[in-house]
Amino acid sequence: MPAPTVYRPFLNGVYTVSAGLLRLGAGLAGQPIPWREDGAAETHTFALEGDYKRFVVSKWAAHRRALHEYAGEANLSPELRVAALEFTARTLAADSGGAMTWDGQTFRNELLGWKARLDLRWGGVQDLRRFGAPLAGLRADLEPLGALDFLGLNAPEDLAIIARDPQTGRDWLAATHVLSPERWDPRDKLGRDFVAVHSPVAGAGPMNATVSRLVDAVIGRGPFVRFVWGIALDYWLDHHPATLEPGEAAPFDPDTAFVRVERQTLTGFPAAHGALFTIRPYLYPLEVAVQTPAQARALAAALRTMTPGQQIYKGLRGILPNLLIWLDERAL
Ligand code: HEM
Repeated sequence: MPAPTVYRPFLNGVYTVSAGLLRLGAGLAGQPIPWREDGAAETHTFALEGDYKRFVVSKWAAHRRALHEYAGEANLSPELRVAALEFTARTLAADSGGAMTWDGQTFRNELLGWKARLDLRWGGVQDLRRFGAPLAGLRADLEPLGALDFLGLNAPEDLAIIARDPQTGRDWLAATHVLSPERWDPRDKLGRDFVAVHSPVAGAGPMNATVSRLVDAVIGRGPFVRFVWGIALDYWLDHHPATLEPGEAAPFDPDTAFVRVERQTLTGFPAAHGALFTIRPYLYPLEVAVQTPAQARALAAALRTMTPGQQIYKGLRGILPNLLIWLDERAL
């Protein structure tokens, strides 16, 4: 599998809280990703790369610890379930470079060594079979609890389904399978609308003011890709609040600090009144994210544009002074 793609969405030197939707697709419809290392345009939803094993290990641990803290459904219609699951199975297989297949009924993963028939309408898993495979030891005997759970366990990406009532226009988060959350609890978000989901985000007011146009675009005019970035002080993918130690954040240490980038995609299903939202975290050691003086300058400049409220929201208050010193030394 290829090495994880390197994205540096901080290269413009500004931290912004905005929709930042880029059209995802080939040819004229596609926009190159300016902060992707090779500047290429993208077409994929799912990214199977060299860090796949880490996702399997982390997702399995979360699943065993307490799946219900990460995954659930809220008023998800069978039509939207079919649309989102069918798209996920088909596209995950297509984006897997041959490691996974989907024939319309059975999803098979040659890396993990399991396959199952999926009931897309009611979300069931039937006829689960396990077989020898390179990562069968990691997969072990874990029982998937439904079709969304099974597909989510095969993908590096986290999955969420947004629904909208065509009569009232009200939107809500209708399903989550988010096993690598960045310091938020999926249970606080399930069933809630876009504005409520984003209410803790410092500086989200202007974005929230455009919510109905945003949800229109997501359901009717995608697919889109967008990027979010921050600094993480450890290498864990799963930062569910229930797993975090209370108390002071760790002091800044360049050897254990990472730039965490989330690549997120949005694919709409207008006839089913909803959309699939995928979240794919990347964790780059600082030395990887910042390889040139220009990159160090851009990251330092972007961090300096955060308001105090944003620094707190992003968990950076304690480490920012020392992180900036470290970056400024490399910016020369
Ligand atoms: C058009 C689609 C969306 C846009 C434009 C959007 C935008 C944003 C932005 C700008 C942030 C702040 C990022 C930062 O930390 O710097 C954010 C955070 C967040 N978004 Fe979204 N988002 C979208 C869809 C969703 C969906 C469907 C979910 C549902 C899972 C979601 C869940 C979250 C959560 C949980 C946070 C962090 C909030 C917290 O700390 O509790 N977003 N989003």
